[in-house]
Amino acid sequence: MNHIATTQHIALSSFLSNATREKQVPAGLIALIKAVADACSSIATAVERGVFDGSSGNAHSENVHGEAQKKLDVVSNDIMIGAVEPVSSLRGLASEELESVQVIGHEDSDGSPDYLLLFDPLDGSSNLEINGIVGSIFSVLATSASGGVIDESHFLQPGVKQVCAGYAIYGATTMFVLTTGHGVDGFTFDGESASFVLTHPQLQIPENTREFAINMSNERFWEEPVRRYVRECVAGASGPRQANFNMRWIASMVAEVHRILMRGGVFLYPRDNRIPQLAGRLRLTYEANPMSFIVEQAGGMSTTGETPIMEVQPDDVHQRIPVILGSRLEVERLLRYHHEAAAA
Ligand code: AHG
Ligand code: MN
Ligand code: MN
Repeated sequence: MNHIATTQHIALSSFLSNATREKQVPAGLIALIKAVADACSSIATAVERGVFDGSSGNAHSENVHGEAQKKLDVVSNDIMIGAVEPVSSLRGLASEELESVQVIGHEDSDGSPDYLLLFDPLDGSSNLEINGIVGSIFSVLATSASGGVIDESHFLQPGVKQVCAGYAIYGATTMFVLTTGHGVDGFTFDGESASFVLTHPQLQIPENTREFAINMSNERFWEEPVRRYVRECVAGASGPRQANFNMRWIASMVAEVHRILMRGGVFLYPRDNRIPQLAGRLRLTYEANPMSFIVEQAGGMSTTGETPIMEVQPDDVHQRIPVILGSRLEVERLLRYHHEAAAA
C-alpha cells in the first residue's frame, strides 16, 4: 500500500489538535505526547551525533537490571526526562534507566486528568556499535492520586489501563508510531520542516504471515510449545505447516514490531529457563505493554502464552514477562500449543 500517495502531509501537532476535537483526547495528554515526540527527535539527533559528541560507547555503569549502560542510554533518558518534566499534566515517570519511579511535583490543581509516563529511552542499544536500528518506547497511564502522594503503587496498573502508547524508530528514517486507543498512526520525521508528518495512517497487521522473529540461540532454554511452533516453521513446505517460513532477528523490539506493523509476522521473546527466577527477557510496563497496545490496536494479538499481556497485574515497574505478539492467526496458534501442552 502506498501510504504517502493517499495522505495529506498532516503534521503531528495538527493531527493531535484534531484528536482533541474529534476523539476527545484530553489536552493534558496531547501536551505530553508532543513533549515525548520532541524528545524522540532530539534522541534521534543524539544518536546520529554520538560519535562527534563523545557520547558513543559504554557509560561504565549498570542499570537496575544489571545491564551495562551505553552513554546514549543515559543521554536518551536525560533528554526524555528534560522534555516531559515541564508538562503540567505529568505526575510521575518510570524508566528502564531509573531504579525508582520519579515523582513530578506538579500540583493537581484544576481537576483535569493527570498522567504517568513509563519508557525505555533507547531500545536495542546493543545495536549502536554496529550502526543498527534503535528506538524509544513509551506508555502513558492516567493517575487518580487527586491531592494524594504519587508512589510506585500508582504505576502498577495492567496494560489495559494504558491511555496512550507509542515508539520512535531511529532507522533509515526516523518515525513516531502512536496509539491513543483509536487505531495506530505512523509519522515520519521530515528534516525540511523539522517535524513529524502523518505518512502511515491507521496501520493494520496482516493476519497471515510466513515470518517469525526469535533469538534461536536460546532454543535449548525455551518451553516446549515454542519449540514445537518454531520446529514446524523451520520444517517448511514438507512439514506440518506446508509452507516455507522466513526468520528475522534484529535484537531491537522496536525494529521487530515495526516490521510486523509493516508486513506482518510474529515476534517471540518467550519464557525460558536460562534464569528461572526471571519470567522472560523483556520488561512488562515499558516494553511489553506499550507494544501490546499498539499491536492490538492494529488488529494483532499479544500474549504471554497463557494470559493476554495487557491483563497481567504488575507487581514491580521493572518486572519481566514472556512476550509473544504479532499477526493474530499465528499468536492464536501459539496460544493453542500452550493450551495443548498444559492439558497433556
Ligand atoms: P534494551 O536495549 O532496551 O535493553 O532492549 C533490548 C531488548 C529488545 O529490544 C530485544 O528484542 C532484546 O532485548 C534482544 O535480546 P537478545 O540480545 O537476547 O537477543
Ligand atoms: Mn528495550
Ligand atoms: Mn533500553
